[in-house]
Amino acid sequence: MSIKFDKDKKLFHLFNKNFSYYFYINDANILEHLYFGAFLKNIDINEITNLGDSWGRHYLTKDNKEEVYKSHFTKDMSYLELGSFGTVDKRPAPIIIKNKNNSYYTDFKFLKFKIYHNLEEKEDFPLVFSKSKVDRLELTLKEVTRDIYLKLNYVVLDDVNTIIRYVKIISKEEGNFLTKVMSFELDLAKQNYNLIHFYGDWSFERNPELIKINHGYTRFSSFFGRSGHEENPSIIYLRDDTTEDYGECFLVNLIYSGNFLIENYVDRYDNLRILCGINDEALEIPLKKNEEILLPQVALTYSNNGLTALSQSSHNFIREHVIRSKFVHKERPILLNSWEGCYLDFNTQKIKRYIEGAYKVGANLFVLDDGWFTNRNTDFNGLGDREIEKEKINLKELIDYAHSLNIKFGLWFEPEMINLGTELYKVHPEYALRKAGVDIGLYRHQLVLDTSNDEVIDYLINKISYFLDNFNIDYIKWDHNRYLADVYSKIHPNASEGYLYHLITLGVYKLFNRLTKKYPDVLFEGCASGGGRFDLGMLYYTPQIWCSDETDPIQRTYIQYGTSFVYPLSTMGAHISKNQITSYKTKGEIALLGTYGLELDPYTLKDDEIQEIKEINGIFKEFHLDTVVNGDLYRLYNPFTSNLFGVNVVSKDKRKAILLLINYRKDNNKHRYIKFKGLDEGKVYKTNLENKCYSGDFLMKNGLNLSKWLNEFESFFVTLKEIDK
Ligand code: GLA
Repeated sequence: MSIKFDKDKKLFHLFNKNFSYYFYINDANILEHLYFGAFLKNIDINEITNLGDSWGRHYLTKDNKEEVYKSHFTKDMSYLELGSFGTVDKRPAPIIIKNKNNSYYTDFKFLKFKIYHNLEEKEDFPLVFSKSKVDRLELTLKEVTRDIYLKLNYVVLDDVNTIIRYVKIISKEEGNFLTKVMSFELDLAKQNYNLIHFYGDWSFERNPELIKINHGYTRFSSFFGRSGHEENPSIIYLRDDTTEDYGECFLVNLIYSGNFLIENYVDRYDNLRILCGINDEALEIPLKKNEEILLPQVALTYSNNGLTALSQSSHNFIREHVIRSKFVHKERPILLNSWEGCYLDFNTQKIKRYIEGAYKVGANLFVLDDGWFTNRNTDFNGLGDREIEKEKINLKELIDYAHSLNIKFGLWFEPEMINLGTELYKVHPEYALRKAGVDIGLYRHQLVLDTSNDEVIDYLINKISYFLDNFNIDYIKWDHNRYLADVYSKIHPNASEGYLYHLITLGVYKLFNRLTKKYPDVLFEGCASGGGRFDLGMLYYTPQIWCSDETDPIQRTYIQYGTSFVYPLSTMGAHISKNQITSYKTKGEIALLGTYGLELDPYTLKDDEIQEIKEINGIFKEFHLDTVVNGDLYRLYNPFTSNLFGVNVVSKDKRKAILLLINYRKDNNKHRYIKFKGLDEGKVYKTNLENKCYSGDFLMKNGLNLSKWLNEFESFFVTLKEIDK
């Protein structure tokens, strides 16, 4: 049991052995937040809610008579589970509903609650799941001026230190619009909290940036129509003294792939309010009578032992409760992707040679990237029709050939896009999102399809199913190469932009849900010009996402390092490419910290390079599944602040581990000891370093001696395997 209710105090306690989350129903029927932090057995409500007398407390009164509420509650400065709009509380509101008279006043009060022992499921919408029983608390609140209800849900996933929070809105009357609806609110004292957000750009994704939370607003958002390269919908909050191994921190992560907003506000009393949900810019969701509107879930993960433990919890949460693909805990194929090897320039013969090359380097999945369909010799045309360019390739012959060599076959798709020159556009221009009277805003020469239109969804499902039904395709790379702008939908002509973006995202989920459910044996890899849609909504459907179009391995260390704060290594598509600066050994070792594979013309590889790659394949086979796919990650060095990148990954049973260390600038002789983390101190491990053996104790406390000259980009890859007793 992880949710308790104390009847006398009207107190809720959501907890596991590591954290507690307390709130109660106060005299005014408002849910007052009390505590979120390390596990706390009991709580003194009075101690927490007594905010002192000198602040001019605002008492609530009933019927303008006496001050009836005896508690310390003051709406403008107390911590709340759900703030209000238009009241004395001037902090940003989590929810605003406009009525037909143009009033935005919104204030919800508690009505009833129920504790369930199951999780909700909804077709075409990413919701966390659990293989074991979990507690779910659903509180029903009523808007004080209208017949509108809000169901506030909390799920405790006690195995991973995570609470899920989400809301549903049901209106019993017509004529109202949701203009803001944040799934998540957390009010707490600012004290010494800082935050890390993950900003970036194409080929430069998820840079962790630590900033102080100051008074006023700090907002992170996307209005790109997808979660975006520019900002990730996740933020870590941490105390001044928190490090990788010490201190309090928590992660707020939105399970959504469209426009989002994470809003932080510190008021004059030093209250910090955190809100997270879909972006409220130009949002107007019509509330139809009796229709239930479900908003995305937010995962709140806690650590009292520093950032490494927080990341590990987040990784476990994502693997156990978000990624629903059957591949999540499985060994991934070593793939060879054609893109950086030949781009759009290929034919059947050339691809056959690539497949043969894939065989030679030890890959067991070949992926034919962009360029296999009609009119796709440049990226100006072709997206939409999705007919095989028979002059260029014989798909069946290629797939049969790959399978004859025991190599699986994968194909690239960019389902959500369309080029103007296609038949599809000629016949159905309304399938594209386009604003009339505005210059056509192309980006990478393409427009985005209107996935808020079910006809478009059906068209795409039919098209893609044709390939999956008629060809033995084992893998699909699902790309998304532009962000959304100038949107207008023929079937939702009156939808505000913010709402339309949301409907488009819901359509994207429909598409992903139907195809991934229909073809559970196909491995799907997400992609959006690299890592432009790297979020939990996508991971729900695709167990891996191409992490970035940047394949320079050194640049990749930064991107994969940043991504690792939130997302498991096994979700990060990572390949060895043709980059000239580093050795294949280094490239391979960095790719090993992701899904692992290659993206080059295999015939450019010299024999000794193939040998180098084969050695890394050997490590992959022996260590990848237990460590990278299913193990625990420890970050040892921060590449942004040191001259080293270093991580080690330990299998859950602590019998196997790998360590990768990369030196950036040339560095001369120095005493250097590289200490492992997370090993079993009682175990003895055999290394790949001349087969020398060391105890876990020694490796963690003394560390491996690397007191030597280090060249630029020199890498050290250490494997550890417990010696059988
Ligand atoms: C995007 C992807 C690449 C490749 C190209 C093909 O940029 O990220 O990996 O698939 O599209 O056009």
